[in-house]
This record gives sequence, structure tokens and C-alpha cells, in this order.
Amino acid sequence: MERPGTGVNQRTVRVQASSKSYDVIVGSGLLASLGGLVRPVVSNARKALLIHDARLPTALVESCGRSLTAAGCVPVLQAFEASESNKVLAQAEFLHTRAAAARLDRHDLVVALGGGIVGDVAGFVGATFKRGLRVIQCPTTLLAMVDASVGGKTGVNLRHEGVLLKNYVGTFHQPELVVASVDALQTLPVREFRAGLAECIKHAMISADWGDPGLWDWTSHAIGAILKRAPNALVELVARNVAVKAAVVGSDERELDESGGRALLNLGHTFAHAIETLPGISPDGDPVHAPLLHGEAVALGLQAACATAVALGLFEIAEAVRVRNLLEEAGLPIGVRRLPPGERVLERMASDKKSIAGAMRLVLPTGRGRASVVQSPEPTAVIRGIASISVP
Ligand SMILES: NC(=O)c1ccc[n+]([C@@H]2O[C@H](COP(=O)([O-])OP(=O)(O)OC[C@H]3O[C@@H](n4cnc5c(N)ncnc54)[C@H](O)[C@@H]3O)[C@@H](O)[C@H]2O)c1
Ligand SMILES: [Zn+2]
Repeated sequence: MERPGTGVNQRTVRVQASSKSYDVIVGSGLLASLGGLVRPVVSNARKALLIHDARLPTALVESCGRSLTAAGCVPVLQAFEASESNKVLAQAEFLHTRAAAARLDRHDLVVALGGGIVGDVAGFVGATFKRGLRVIQCPTTLLAMVDASVGGKTGVNLRHEGVLLKNYVGTFHQPELVVASVDALQTLPVREFRAGLAECIKHAMISADWGDPGLWDWTSHAIGAILKRAPNALVELVARNVAVKAAVVGSDERELDESGGRALLNLGHTFAHAIETLPGISPDGDPVHAPLLHGEAVALGLQAACATAVALGLFEIAEAVRVRNLLEEAGLPIGVRRLPPGERVLERMASDKKSIAGAMRLVLPTGRGRASVVQSPEPTAVIRGIASISVP
């Protein structure tokens, strides 16, 4: 459907989690009519704590606020500096005090306007203030649109013995509505945009069993338009990726299925988690650009997963080459300097919080658009996978 007067399509994807169903509206120029989109979903909200990323253009934030006011929901604007070190309980507590000062009650709303950091913290504040307010997610990064805003995971990092343990404190709290307005992506730095594309490529690598067998071919085809951030290409990209994530999440809301379901979204991630926190590693070898962004580490993880799967005889070389080419076209790293020896990376992978009792589970590609969970893969094959992303 075309949104009147914009020439840009609009799509709605329904997320059906066992605890709640809600819509993800994908289009352009949606934030200026946020109030009108929110009102039918939460008719009795009188106030909204609008937690917004401090780097967003002021005009965008103000237009959201105006539209909520016009819909009879008074916005209380609160900026948030998006960084992992700010995504902690102390900041969540500060936001709780803002909600208290605004006298929010159980009918009112928390609106998260920003990337995955704002979405996770604001979602957590919404989930916990007065035992839970309703939350509207308005993602403004590609990663948040296709991944973080859908599925109800909220939370903060935990500082422990000088280390930031990522997402150690949190809860599942599905939003009432997600509004993904792709025009917001125009101001996103190119590196952040590409990092979001890594998650899209991951979705395309599992989509065949989740309702969209054509997503891989479409993404390879449309990559030029996507990189130019052509609005209709972005709407299709976001809507199709949300649909894949929604199908997976709907099958396994709380990530209890160890051999399928949400676990498949970890494709490339066990490698990524082991390398994204290593100091001094950058996507182009220039230490000034270190550390890697999560999506950059995911791209490396996807490449390593393909090489591991090829070594195990699970995935054809020609398919692995296709994945590498698409990652490269998307401007993502497929190899980096200064990686520790494969055995060391393997040890770090085995201690990933998603490994069960030390036995490593890896999600590996098995065909175009298909992946499965492999229990305790042969270490030599995994080391070959790691070698494939290590530039001497
Ligand atoms: N809840 C989930 O299911 C889930 C899934 C994946 C990731 N996450 C979390 O998401 C976070 C990463 O999210 P992210 O990649 O969106 O990072 P982010 O929130 O840090 O945003 C990336 C950068 O872009 C800026 N920014 C955001 N929107 C912008 C815009 N429209 N224009 C210009 N700049 C903009 C931010 O200020 C930040 O500097 C991590 O903390 C991760 O744990 C959560
Ligand atoms: Zn990820």
C-alpha cells in the first residue's frame, strides 16, 4: 500500500507472540503522525515518557512530540546518550525517576525513539516502572528496525568486576506497537547502516524456513538500492526482515527451543561475541576505527560460520562464496588483522553465555536461506572457520 502523498509504500507486519500480538508499521514520514498511529492501539493513555536518542535531529523528536500532543497524549521528552556504558541500571533508575516526576500511571506510555540501546533501556524502564507500562518502539537505526525493536527483549548491561556484562539484567516485555519510519535512516552514519545490514543478511540466510524463501535472492538483487537508501527498497527490506524475525520469535518467544526457534537468530553470533570485545580490532585494519561494531562482528561471524559449514561438508562452497560476496558488497568486513590464534578464539566461543554447560552449539548454514543448530562441532572445522576471517 502507498502512503498518500509520499510515493513510498507502507507495510504492516503482525507479530504473534504467545504473550501478545502487535503490529510493526513500516513506512516513511510516520513519526510526524505517531500520535494518530498510537491512539487506536492505546486509547486511554494521557501521558508518554518519550525517551529519545540524544543524537537524533531535534526536528524529528519535536515532530513526534507534537503529534502525540495533537492526539491528546502529553509527551515528556527525555534525551538519552546512547552508549553501552550508559545502558546500565543507574541510568534506568534515573529514567524511572523521570517517569515518577511526570506522574505517569499504569495507563500511560513509554515511547522509545532511537537505536537498539534506547529501545532496550526504555523498554526495560517501561517494563518495570509501576510493574509495567505499555511501550511503543520507534526504532531509528536499521539494526533496531529489523532486530532489537521486535521480540520483546529489554534490558541493561551489568558492571561486574570492571567488565560490562551485556544484557545481563532485563525482562521480556512486548511493545504495543512498533513504528519503523525509514526516513529516519537517512541521518544514520554509514558504518551503523552497514552494521544493520549484517543482521539483514543473517535473516536472509535463515528465511527459507520462516516464510520467505526469496529473501536471499531479493537482498542480493536490491543491495545497490538498499545502499543508496532508496525509500521503497528500505521499506521492503525492513518489512521482510521484521516478518522473518517475527516468525522466529512467534515460534519461541522466550528462547527455550535449543535446536531451532530463536536459537537460529544466533547464526554468526557465537563467533561475533568471541571477537567483538577483543581490543584493537577494526574493520579496515586502522586502529583508529577499533573496536568493531556488533554488526561488523556479525558479518565476520557469518563468514566464519560459512567456512566452518563448508569444512564440515554441510554447505556448498559456491553458496559460501555468494555470502562472502554479498557481505563485501554491503561494505562489511570479511577478514580482520590481529585476531588471536584460532584455539584462543575457540575457547572464548565455548564460554559464550549461550553455550550450554560448556558444550558448544553453533548455528551453521546448510543451504540457501537455511541453517541448523549443530551440537559440539568438530573443533578443527571451527578453527578453519576462524582462519577464514584472519588476515595475516
Ligand atoms: N532487544 C533485542 O532483541 C536486541 C537485539 C539486537 C540488539 N540489541 C541491542 O541493541 C543495541 C545496539 O543497537 P544499535 O545498533 O541500534 O545501536 P545504538 O542504539 O547505539 O545506535 C547506533 C548509533 O546511532 C545513533 N543513532 C541512532 N539513530 C540515529 C539516526 N536515525 N540518525 C543518526 N544517528 C542515529 C546512536 O546515537 C548511536 O550512536 C545493543 O545494545 C544490543 O544489545 C537488542
Ligand atoms: Zn546481532
